[in-house]
Parts: sequence; structure tokens; C-alpha cells
Amino acid sequence: MGTLTICDHPLIQHKLTYIRDKDTKTKDFRELVDEIATMMAYEITRDLPLETVNVQTPIVEAPSKVISGRMLGLIPILRAGLGMVEGMLKLIPAAKVGHIGLFRNPETLQPVEYYVNLPADATERLLIVVDPMLATGGSANAAIASLKSRGCTQIKLMCLIAAPEGVKAVQDAHPDVDIYLASLDSHLNDHGYIVPGLGDAGDRMFGTK
Ligand code: PRP
Ligand code: URA
Repeated sequence: MGTLTICDHPLIQHKLTYIRDKDTKTKDFRELVDEIATMMAYEITRDLPLETVNVQTPIVEAPSKVISGRMLGLIPILRAGLGMVEGMLKLIPAAKVGHIGLFRNPETLQPVEYYVNLPADATERLLIVVDPMLATGGSANAAIASLKSRGCTQIKLMCLIAAPEGVKAVQDAHPDVDIYLASLDSHLNDHGYIVPGLGDAGDRMFGTK
């Protein structure tokens, strides 16, 4: 079973409260998601392997650590996942970015894939699938399955808010995938929205509806 990590740093939790607030407007919502994504990128890269190199300081030559060449890829699920990319690139600027376009059919809640464009060397990279919301888990599961069907094997999932139903769905379908969240909320309502959640992440981020 993959690990489940709740990124409970006080700054993340503080900013999360403001994106939950229905009165937070698009500009602030976008900025806060960007900031939270940067902080979560710090957590999700915590286990990157290091190697030792020699560095010449002004005083002596000394052994010191650098990340040992692990290549990363960020895979936002369109649309809402896009809002997390820039924030993550602030910490991992060399990451490549692939896109998976999915939307939930509002009646069936089933994901419909409409676009996939991955880095040419995606199969050699550690891929981080990003989406603010993990509700039924249908979209994340479809995105992960889409990556695996193209030969990708090293995959992590990073979301801001999840319902327990979505976490279980991903753990059942993809037990090899580690999940990182800012919050594990209470449940899904009858319309497939996370409670308490923050509403429709894509609409709030892009000012639609
Ligand atoms: C939202 C959200 C996730 C998905 C989560 O996207 O950004 O991708 O729903 O729900 P699930 O876990 O039940 O699949 P939506 O389908 O609203 O598309 P959008 O990003 O284009 O607004
Ligand atoms: N998608 C969203 O944007 N919000 C939810 O609460 C569930 C799915």
C-alpha cells in the first residue's frame, strides 16, 4: 500500500482555510493555491535521493549533498491542476510538465479523457499527478491508469483536499502510488462534492460560473 501523507504544516493549514472560504475571490484563490502547492512540493520531494560531491568553499574543499539526478515530471489534471504547477516549479524548476485533460460527467461522475500530452521521457521520470480535489477518485484513477498504460511506473499523487472515498478508490486501484494531501475531509455529498471542501476548484480558480 502506498503511503498517505497529510501536509499539516501550520502555513498550509492557514492558507487552506482561506481557499475554503466562499467569499475568497478568484485572484486570491489562485495565489493561495499557488503558495500551498509550493509548500507541498517541499514535502513531496522530501525523500529524493542525495549523493555526495566535493565543493570548494572559501575555506576548504568539503563533501556536500546534491540531489542525485532523479528527474521529475509534473502532470496536472486539467483544468484545476494547472493552478498548482507554477507553485511547484518554483522549487523544482527543472521538472517537465505533461498534461492530462479529464472532466467529470456531471450525471455519472465518471471521468472523460479528452487530452494527453506527456514529456517524451516520461517513463524515466518520477511523475507527480496534481489536482486540487480528490473526490470520488475517478479522475485521479483515470489519470494514473493513463500514465501506466503509456509505460510510466513511478507515480505520486498530490491533492489539496480529499474525501475518504477518493483516497480509498486510489489506494484500491493503485496501491503503488503515494498520496499527499493538505486535508482529508469528512465525506462526499450526493452530488459528488467534498464536504466541507471548497466547492468547484476549477470554477473558483478560473472565475467560471
Ligand atoms: C474536478 C477536480 C478533479 C475532479 C475530482 O475537476 O479538479 O479533477 O473534479 O473529482 P473526482 O475525484 O470525483 O473525479 P472537474 O471534473 O470539475 O473538471 P475541471 O477541472 O475542468 O473543472
Ligand atoms: N471537484 C471539485 O472541484 N470539487 C469537489 O468538491 C469535488 C470535485
